[in-house]
Amino acid sequence: MKHIAVLTSGGDAPGMNAAIRAVTRMGLELGWRVSGVAQGYAGLIAGDIEPFTARSVSGIIQQGGTILGSARCPDFLTEEGRERGLRALAQHDVDALVVIGGNGSQAGANALSAMGYPVVGVASTIDNDLYGSDITIGVDTALNIALEAIDRLKVTASSHQRAFLVEVMGRNCGYLALMSAIAGGAEAVVIPEVESDPEIIATELRDSYRRGKSHAIIVVAEGARYNAEALLEFFKAHRGRLGFELRATTLGHVQRGGAPGAYDRILATRLGAAAVERLASGEQGILIGHLQGEIRATPLAEVAARKKPLDVNLLKLADALAK
Ligand code: F6P
Repeated sequence: MKHIAVLTSGGDAPGMNAAIRAVTRMGLELGWRVSGVAQGYAGLIAGDIEPFTARSVSGIIQQGGTILGSARCPDFLTEEGRERGLRALAQHDVDALVVIGGNGSQAGANALSAMGYPVVGVASTIDNDLYGSDITIGVDTALNIALEAIDRLKVTASSHQRAFLVEVMGRNCGYLALMSAIAGGAEAVVIPEVESDPEIIATELRDSYRRGKSHAIIVVAEGARYNAEALLEFFKAHRGRLGFELRATTLGHVQRGGAPGAYDRILATRLGAAAVERLASGEQGILIGHLQGEIRATPLAEVAARKKPLDVNLLKLADALAK
């Protein structure tokens, strides 16, 4: 009988619990033992590993966050930290590890795999910046949370004929901002991948009023050079010349805290179950993701080495439809 452990690492994402549940129940279904590791790689190093039963993951599919807890763990970036993690896995007789998380987490998974330990990753981050999955667990829910905020801001923006800025998360990736702008019908969008000129943004916002719009919404990615702070500063400094004020809302961690929607629950369930199935068929050192409509595996070494490109052509679409 095999013994697998599962951990969640990095920023939490809505749907992580559904993935933990799928890994656990699929492992038990195969007659294996399954354990949960608390607080990501930090808990692994500390040997915080507990046996799970089917009941350990009852009633969690609809919950946001992660019942296992998560952490960012600088110690795991060192070889010594990883060796301590491997020792803890050996002490608990764990044969393989499933890592649910984004870029940093899968880099850790790849490092463990390179040390010869069987690891399978599950693609999960609201940023959608992970190579090896077109869409990752948590993105859809985070997008819907951003959209709810944008829709509400549009209402008050229309009442007051004001320009509003909404800053969304995404680290150095503009995916959340771009998709929120398209789905929210924003007048302008600023992403890290493309240089933006605040003068042009101001012109776009002013033009939307000239065209008879009652609101002007600009969605900004936190990682852009002109993020909320920088744009607000620019608008304040040029208030007289620009002729209007900008109000800003930074969504921040609100985007990560929601209950997962149907899409994320199903995606997480499929990816989590596939991770166990792949281990059962002898595969390891891979990331399970959703590619071109299918559940597919990509070597962790490739995931760690490659950057996922953003389709910046969608920026043209956002601009064209903002008219
Ligand atoms: O990677 C997910 C994410 O939410 C990013 O969008 C954001 O930049 C970062 O995590 C915030 O990290 P923390 O929760 O550690 O402040």
